[in-house]
Amino acid sequence: MNTLIIDGKKISQDIKNELREEVDNLKKTGVNPGLAVILVGNNPASKVYVSNKKKACEYIGIRSFSYELPEETTEEELLKLINDLNNNQEVHGILVQLPLPNHINENKVLLSIDPSKDVDCFHPYNVGMISIGELNGFLPCTPAGIIELIKRSNIDIEGKKCVVVGRSNIVGKPVANLLLSHNGTVTICHSRTKNLEEICKEADILVAAIGKANFITENMVKEGAVLIDVGINRLENGKLCGDIDFENCKNKAMAITPVPGGVGPMTIAMLMKNCVKAAIM
Ligand code: GUN
Repeated sequence: MNTLIIDGKKISQDIKNELREEVDNLKKTGVNPGLAVILVGNNPASKVYVSNKKKACEYIGIRSFSYELPEETTEEELLKLINDLNNNQEVHGILVQLPLPNHINENKVLLSIDPSKDVDCFHPYNVGMISIGELNGFLPCTPAGIIELIKRSNIDIEGKKCVVVGRSNIVGKPVANLLLSHNGTVTICHSRTKNLEEICKEADILVAAIGKANFITENMVKEGAVLIDVGINRLENGKLCGDIDFENCKNKAMAITPVPGGVGPMTIAMLMKNCVKAAIM
């Protein structure tokens, strides 16, 4: 079978170029989008993500306000900063990089962000809007990136059997909601699911977001399926790999996302889209 390898790097670049033009035009009307990026502590992966988000802002022409706070920052101090940013007219979007240090209550922090500045779409208000099918506000970044990859590859979701493996608040649950809003027939599986193999094997569109290297193997994939891999796992030899065994599954698939270069780059592109939306909402 002639498998389509979905090029997330190219698609995310296309989106960033579209946004760059949009921001250019917005600036001519006096709108100057701004994003506050907050990092607490020294998580090395978070530092890389935050740095990439700031670079994307710079490319598109969004002002970024950076707050890199020490590990010992108290919850009260963080809440105070968010409150100030909520009231700052130059800041349209507020992003708190997760995970936060253990002594800080993550839910309390996410609840404190003004929903109209919640560009990660983590606030229960925005999560609720997605779950009632209201898609005109902020969209959750990685899930929206997945939908965009599918759409820009001319793949129809309507009526398809979609299986999501993973039930996290950041990916599994919101991507299931978005697929449902696009009229997919959605099943969510997770670590306690019985007959996981058989359920996966029925999927027309399979989204793997479990965080286990090469978890989805060829025998779990239907001939002609669309395979979306959200995993980023580091093997002992230092190589990155996804949750889907790419080499063995690719021949069976109609389309598949690689790791790296598939879903990964889409998250930041969709975050940037939310920032632009925040500035004009
Ligand atoms: N940690 C892992 N993924 C994300 C994300 O999309 N946004 C934020 N803020 N933190 C994360």
